[in-house]
Amino acid sequence: MKPFRIHIHPPAVDEKDKDSVLSAMESGYVAPDGPFNRLFEEKLCKYLQVPHAITLQSGTAALHLALKNLGIGKGDYVLVPTHTFVASVSPVLYEKAIPVMVESSPDQVNMSPGYLEEAILDLKKKNTRPKAIIAVHLYGLSAPIDQLMELARKYEIPVIEDAAESLGTKYGDNFTGTFASQGILSFNGNKVITTSGGGTLITHRKAFAERARFLSAHAKEEKDYFFHRETGHNYQLSNLLAALGVSQLEKLEKYIARKRKIHAMYQKSGLSLVEEMPGERSNYWLNILHLPGGVHAQDLMDYMAGKGIETRRLWFPLHLMPAFKDFLYYGAGESKGWFDRYLLLPSGPGLTDEEVEEVAMEVKRFMGDK
Ligand SMILES: Cc1ncc(COP(=O)(O)O)c(C=O)c1O
Repeated sequence: MKPFRIHIHPPAVDEKDKDSVLSAMESGYVAPDGPFNRLFEEKLCKYLQVPHAITLQSGTAALHLALKNLGIGKGDYVLVPTHTFVASVSPVLYEKAIPVMVESSPDQVNMSPGYLEEAILDLKKKNTRPKAIIAVHLYGLSAPIDQLMELARKYEIPVIEDAAESLGTKYGDNFTGTFASQGILSFNGNKVITTSGGGTLITHRKAFAERARFLSAHAKEEKDYFFHRETGHNYQLSNLLAALGVSQLEKLEKYIARKRKIHAMYQKSGLSLVEEMPGERSNYWLNILHLPGGVHAQDLMDYMAGKGIETRRLWFPLHLMPAFKDFLYYGAGESKGWFDRYLLLPSGPGLTDEEVEEVAMEVKRFMGDK
């Protein structure tokens, strides 16, 4: 197979990013936590309009600490989407809690409010009250967050928003990740902005922020020597990576504008894409192509790879994987439909107009040949 010429979402790093990391190195703070972490947190809070942000080594770590803040432990039930990346759910298992899989709708990639309510009511019949809902905003598209939050309020279940893929996406006036009391972000290498690896817990509650920060640094008590009443985690983000985050964040709006332009170009070329909801401003992290009947996602992916163009399958449903097949599931197989009939297209902000046109042309050529 040819090496890819056009990647799905390569990191966009420039001279300013290099300068920022270099200045952190020269400052002597080549440590897990330092002044750039505070600056990055301050800037994230300002951008997202939230009072607290804790920079961490990954989005997965942020989700783990968010669950710990809610006291999730052995045997607790947590409602999660089946259509998501495994990291949205694995921290539930770290704590020996029990994930309950909830489907997407046929016309909406994220968790279906209908199935969510069905799951809550059925668990109620079984005398079980879920302790949390993890609401994920996949591919840069907002979940129907107002409906999910309404159900969460009705049944008094706390929500954690997984906005790993949707930094900068707004629904109404608010950013995804900020509707619930806690949200998480990822700055992995393929995300809209990157620290190569990294994540953040954002929260409206001071107590959650303080507890997460404490647990992220081995739960070290405030003493002159190392003393622990409980065990924590080594989850703090490096000051060098936070420096990269600070300079990347300055470009976020510019990147989103470019990514929205790329979406518009694909649309204009006649490709059928999944669109944002009314009232949403998506970051269009990865554009989702709808395939006509008779076209198989894997065949198109293989064809594109042969042309040096990287595409990606959607997330394979968790409930169909050996690691998750024994957990409760509410739905009728919708996420398998998403997996089979859609494909993710190159969407990075560094793509040139010519590259976007080439991707669209190759997709159409393949469809024409079908
Ligand atoms: C939906 C989703 N949740 C969680 C994560 C975990 O983030 P991280 O890789 O920073 O741990 C990712 C991405 O990597 C993701 O796509």
